[in-house]
Amino acid sequence: MDHQLKWRMVILSTMAIILAAANLVHGDDELPAAVKPIVKIVKGKKLCDKGWECKGLSEYCCNSTISDYFQTYQFENLFSKRNTPVAHAAGFWDYHSFITAAALYQPHGFGTTGEKQTGMKEVAAFLGHVGSKTSCGYGVATGGPLAWGLCYNKEMSPSQTYCDDTFKYTYPCTPGVSYHGRGALPIYWNYNYGETGDALKVDILNHPEYLENNATLAFQAAIWRWMTPVKKHQPSAHDVFVGKWKPTKNDTLAKRVPGFGATMNVLYGDQVCGKDDDESMNNMVSHYLYYLDLMGVGREEAGPHEVVSCSEQKAFNPSSPASSSSSSS
Ligand SMILES: *[C@@H]1O[C@H](CO)[C@@H](O)[C@H](O)[C@H]1NC(C)=O
Ligand SMILES: *[C@@H]1O[C@H](CO)[C@@H](O)[C@H](O)[C@H]1NC(C)=O
Ligand SMILES: *[C@@H]1O[C@H](CO)[C@@H](O)[C@H](O)[C@H]1NC(C)=O
Repeated sequence: MDHQLKWRMVILSTMAIILAAANLVHGDDELPAAVKPIVKIVKGKKLCDKGWECKGLSEYCCNSTISDYFQTYQFENLFSKRNTPVAHAAGFWDYHSFITAAALYQPHGFGTTGEKQTGMKEVAAFLGHVGSKTSCGYGVATGGPLAWGLCYNKEMSPSQTYCDDTFKYTYPCTPGVSYHGRGALPIYWNYNYGETGDALKVDILNHPEYLENNATLAFQAAIWRWMTPVKKHQPSAHDVFVGKWKPTKNDTLAKRVPGFGATMNVLYGDQVCGKDDDESMNNMVSHYLYYLDLMGVGREEAGPHEVVSCSEQKAFNPSSPASSSSSSS
């Protein structure tokens, strides 16, 4: 081996040690590094694979992924009070679990549809729902009522066990188990635990506590709900937000238009929509707008009132008088 080559190898291996040491310093908090995309052209379409965060050849993986435009410090800004001693789930929620869960849905367009700004808006919208449902903020809370998202990971004083016996053949309640609200978009009732568990292939019908012990699973269940239509042949919250859904004549007559308002319609229907000035609806909107500002997109990008709110919209799924999920924590 000639001298020069030998020296080059010494230098390279020294650099490798320094890099390895740098990795050690960051330890657990570090996400796997950004991967150079693999690009393939299939039937004239450009498809990419970006490793762990956007895995499996997909058009969406050619675009900016969430960790490109939404980083740890931004997560900390949005949920700045979640680890204070008075927060009810201090130490539970973190950036790493959000990104790990989001990675499963980015190849399907979560945060990766359209322009980067659409992705940022979708993340703000999804987290707006989450922040509102998990907040313990109130009018005079320090930092303002909107700084308290991800304060809860479960309903604190459930008044019932949310067991609906009409589902005893499909999703029977496990004796001794309570199906009160848990997660990032809280899940209530045995049938919702059952359906979500089937989709995620995790037995939360028998073990609902998994959702309050595992933040990645809690985010995964929430993003699954966001990405999946509540009923067949209907759009998901994702679809109505990114404009993948085209309103029919009936939708237009019912004042349903693509945007944040329609995401609330998909997920909560007439519990919050078509009621003029519903408090729960306004709270979701406030969180969304606040997060748009903090992420640097700006609330003015949210669009006009009829797009952001659902106060005039008729529900996609009008609720029957029978059991429907109650409000959060
Ligand atoms: C990817 O980004 C480009 C440019 O921002 C956008 O036009 C395109 O629609 C995006 N691809 C997908 C699949 O959304
Ligand atoms: C938490 O949930 C994730 C996502 O379902 C799963 O991959 C992981 O193994 C779970 N962690 C533990 C400790 O059970
Ligand atoms: C539109 O609404 C009418 C009246 O509610 C209903 O009968 C019809 O099936 C709807 N059409 C579609 C395509 O949903």
